[in-house]
Amino acid sequence: MKTKILGTTTEEIEEAARILADGGLVAFPTETVYGLGADALNAEAVAKVYAAKGRPSDNPMIVHISSKDDLKALTVEITEDMEKLAEHFWPGPMTMIVKRRSVVPDVTTGGLDTVGVRMPSAPEALELIRRAGCPVAAPSANLSGKPSPTCSSHVIEDLSGRIDAILCGGQCQVGIESTVIDMTGEQPMILRPGILTRGNFEQVLGKTVLLDPTLNRRPGRGAEEKLIPKAPGMKYKHYAPKAEMIVFEGNAENVRRAMEEEREARRQAGQKVCMLFFADGEQRNAAHDLFALLRQADQDGANVILASALTEQGVGFSVMNRMLKSAGYNIKKV
Ligand code: TXA
Ligand code: MG
Repeated sequence: MKTKILGTTTEEIEEAARILADGGLVAFPTETVYGLGADALNAEAVAKVYAAKGRPSDNPMIVHISSKDDLKALTVEITEDMEKLAEHFWPGPMTMIVKRRSVVPDVTTGGLDTVGVRMPSAPEALELIRRAGCPVAAPSANLSGKPSPTCSSHVIEDLSGRIDAILCGGQCQVGIESTVIDMTGEQPMILRPGILTRGNFEQVLGKTVLLDPTLNRRPGRGAEEKLIPKAPGMKYKHYAPKAEMIVFEGNAENVRRAMEEEREARRQAGQKVCMLFFADGEQRNAAHDLFALLRQADQDGANVILASALTEQGVGFSVMNRMLKSAGYNIKKV
């Protein structure tokens, strides 16, 4: 298949929208990461997304809308809390899990009776969805297992020849995927952390927001209990660079020294080393850069990536969720 490379002029967005409306696949920029879109209500189109990404078919997709009002068409019940969150955080990097209406096909929700809905804020995304005239199912536009794409070259690298078109905008502002919050239980629960944190939601709702207990799991910290994450996508190997990756945890001084020693030893052994230093004061930059840096390390032919951990608080918690998965929980405490 020849993949059309499009820019973001009105004509090009219109062309991309027509492809979506006709059941085709278009990758497009959002403020979080690039998405791979299909008409969410067209089962055949959505099935092609799983094939293009090599994605397990039990992993549900987020349905993207271009106006808050479009939520009504997808869910039976809109609670006061859902209204508050939509009012505060849409358009933006928040996905709400809600009870689905039957218009949403099984293939879009991986057979669940709930659906994830998000109104992105990137203007090209909103314009594309609005012009397509349908809600747009879109997982991140990477091959399954690879780091999410934060610029158009990442999408071209992964999906060229596998989809109809790529709408090429600039770099994504946020850099990690949306916060997923489940609104179907007694209490709201975060299933995937993102740039919007538990604190942000608690402030708006004036009540406690839970964290999926599997989010605090890692080897040696309760991984032995067989907890299953509520977001099916969180159980898969994810975001993995080709290189081996080690995350160094401890006070900044010790971490720097240990990383430098490790670099020396690896170099002696003839390996190419990539060093990633992240700082607690710059969590948003870390979120913005992480996936792009992992892809760059692979491109540079690194054998091993050495990364410094962030404190798991606020946005740092969300970045660490991605970083530890990328490293396959290969952690060195120093
Ligand atoms: O920022 C984002 O959310 C990006 C952009 C493109 O919008 N999209 C994205 O989609 O990250 P994806 O498919 O890579 O991740 C969706 C996550 C998965 O972990 C999936 O299991 C979970 O959301 N999810 C989707 N629908 C769900 C549902 N009904 N119940 C529980 N988890 C759900
Ligand atoms: Mg993804």
